Amino acid sequence: MKKKLKVLALFDAMAPTALDQDLSAEMKTDNRKTEANVLAALSALSCTPDHLVLFDDLDLLRQKLENFTPDVLFNLADQFNNNRGFDQNIVSFLEMQRVPFTGCGSTGLLLCKHKGISKKILSYHRIHVPDFVIIPRGKRITRPKRLKFPILVKPLKEEASLGISQASFVETDEQFRERVTFIHEKYNGDVIAEEYIDGREFYVSLMGNLRLKVFPIRELVFREVPPDEPRIATYNAKWNEVYRKRWGLQNQFAEELDPALVAHIEQTCKRIYRLLTIDGYARIDLRLTAANEVYFIEANPNPILAEDEDFALSAGKAGVPYPQLIDRIIRLGMKTVRG
Ligand SMILES: Nc1ncnc2c1ncn2[C@@H]1O[C@H](COP(=O)(O)OP(=O)(O)O)[C@@H](O)[C@H]1O
Ligand SMILES: [Mg+2]
Repeated sequence: MKKKLKVLALFDAMAPTALDQDLSAEMKTDNRKTEANVLAALSALSCTPDHLVLFDDLDLLRQKLENFTPDVLFNLADQFNNNRGFDQNIVSFLEMQRVPFTGCGSTGLLLCKHKGISKKILSYHRIHVPDFVIIPRGKRITRPKRLKFPILVKPLKEEASLGISQASFVETDEQFRERVTFIHEKYNGDVIAEEYIDGREFYVSLMGNLRLKVFPIRELVFREVPPDEPRIATYNAKWNEVYRKRWGLQNQFAEELDPALVAHIEQTCKRIYRLLTIDGYARIDLRLTAANEVYFIEANPNPILAEDEDFALSAGKAGVPYPQLIDRIIRLGMKTVRG
């Protein structure tokens, strides 16, 4: 009989944790939906699961690795000591420990997290990206003349639309300066300012290492947003249910796409995935202009894995039910060549 696989699920936390942190109450909340879904899948797969909640203490992780000796780590930790920029450092530690883990390695996480470097690599390879400028904290705030309004001002290295609101969309130099200052000061982060690409917003989910599988394309539709208003997946647009209802925002499968266009999007996303050295699984955010040009917006390695989010829904539509999806992610993680 085959030995049961020992899988250590690694979670993050926003306050110090203990080795045997009790999560049973938290697991029932929306904040821990992904973790709860993944743990349930691991049980259904008849693995031997365990979990560790990491805040800032790598000794806990070392102890857990020693005591439990997992075959593979299921990595759901994307912050360390309340810093989301450290996701790649957690993974670097795992790479040095030589423990197999799921998802993306440190190089892919680094390249994707930096919204400037990823775009430079892709534009070198002739993938359409919005023209942009990076404005670090402490640097004088000026708009290069080549950068045309409207412009979207974003934190250079954030996720989940943190720091992105309707005020991020700017049409004058005064609004530009104001918003850049706001991100510098309130978010304590560097800025990337990009030309605004008007068009449909697509989310493309991919899985694999050498051979890639692309799942059906999802779209965020802005049903009730007036045609002359900017369409942006702001923080509220992603996370505020009342706001989503108010503006008719809905994530759904993209409809009425020409098969040749779908093939082009799939090829483009595979190239992006490889150029940014992503491993495991990812969701790539794109915009499609009225002229049918595909623009890269962002790559998300280790995208949210909750059962009701775009990645799992796309996989499900392609005939990969949730526990099998988790199983495949684990197998890929065990096979990934690191470092
Ligand atoms: N250059 C752009 N043109 C048009 N819309 C954009 C642009 N950059 C970002 N957006 C909008 O803002 C959303 C969030 O931006 P993104 O760079 O993906 O940040 P995050 O990492 O926080 O998700 C996108 O999903 C898109 O709706
Ligand atoms: Mg995004």
